[in-house]
Amino acid sequence: MYKLVIRPFLFLFDPEKVHHFSFLFIAFLHKIPFIPALIKSLYRTNNKELETEVFGIKFPNRVGLAAGFDKDAKLFNELSNFGFGFIEIGTLTPIAQDGNPKKRLFRLKEENAIINRMGFNNGGVKAAVERLKKNKKVIIGGNIGKNKMTPNEEAVGDYLICFNELFYFVDYFVVNVSSPNTPNLRALQDKEPLTNLLSTLQNENLKKQTPKPILLKIAPDLTNEQLLDIIDIINVSKIAGVIATNTTISRDGLLSEAKIEIGGLSGKPLKNRSTEVIRFLAEKSNKSFPIIGVGGIHSADDAIEKLNAGASLIQLYTGFIYEGPCLIKKINKAILNK
Ligand code: FNR
Repeated sequence: MYKLVIRPFLFLFDPEKVHHFSFLFIAFLHKIPFIPALIKSLYRTNNKELETEVFGIKFPNRVGLAAGFDKDAKLFNELSNFGFGFIEIGTLTPIAQDGNPKKRLFRLKEENAIINRMGFNNGGVKAAVERLKKNKKVIIGGNIGKNKMTPNEEAVGDYLICFNELFYFVDYFVVNVSSPNTPNLRALQDKEPLTNLLSTLQNENLKKQTPKPILLKIAPDLTNEQLLDIIDIINVSKIAGVIATNTTISRDGLLSEAKIEIGGLSGKPLKNRSTEVIRFLAEKSNKSFPIIGVGGIHSADDAIEKLNAGASLIQLYTGFIYEGPCLIKKINKAILNK
């Protein structure tokens, strides 16, 4: 139904407008009596065997929604009804910002992919906190970043503001230094600034009565040498784990005209590289920290591949757009049959 009717219709329109329309439509559906229960019964897989504990959190299942879809925490309760075990909100910055000029989101239909250069458009961390107060027990990851105007030398301050504002309203944190769409952000992945950023956040975390897991989200474009540095940095800063990966700046093997667009590529073409990064990190670290695997999951097999490579949990974004909400159920069934 989704791929035959809904997707072809939605794909007639501008991707960012479709995103906003879909949000309004899902929110509207949830205002109609019995529809939320119907959505849950269609898409959720309730089974104790799917439950898993990772970095001290008990997840109802391993399939999460990746950051960027519900940046402003506007729809996490409703989205969880489609079967996700957790929802990552953000990337949030201290101050609201518009992001890059439109048009900034492109479909590469031939490749089942997306290029985006949104640039951390978001309403600011404080506005998101207000909405998170209405959380009906969904497990939430808080993905945090810095404002575009903040120079890298002062970036730690931005991350600390977001961390403290969100602390009581999210279950785990994600430090995003891997978006290609904020100028120079990825320079924060270098050993010295990254060790400083993560150690500062973890020190702040340890001052709290009950610290929360902090994860680092990395780019798929890092070299093996840089990945080995990442393992060292995780060990030194003692944060909880890694999310691999964000979007790529590579355009290898693409045919679609939109490949010339600047931004981060997600979806099927990212799958193999993201799995490689997960496998490399898991092997070289002797599985000493958990990894959330994300990048190009468009089928149950893709999800199992990520888990077999060493991921403890997985997330999707582009696969959710191309395959529809059935994908979550398919993955959960496959995990049960594993
Ligand atoms: C993203 N992604 C992303 N990641 C992040 O950490 N912060 C963000 O704000 C965003 N924003 C964003 C917007 C759009 C339009 C897309 C398509 C993606 C990256 C996302 O969370 C994920 O890491 C990658 O998209 C790879 O997964 P998929 O899409 O191949 O399943």
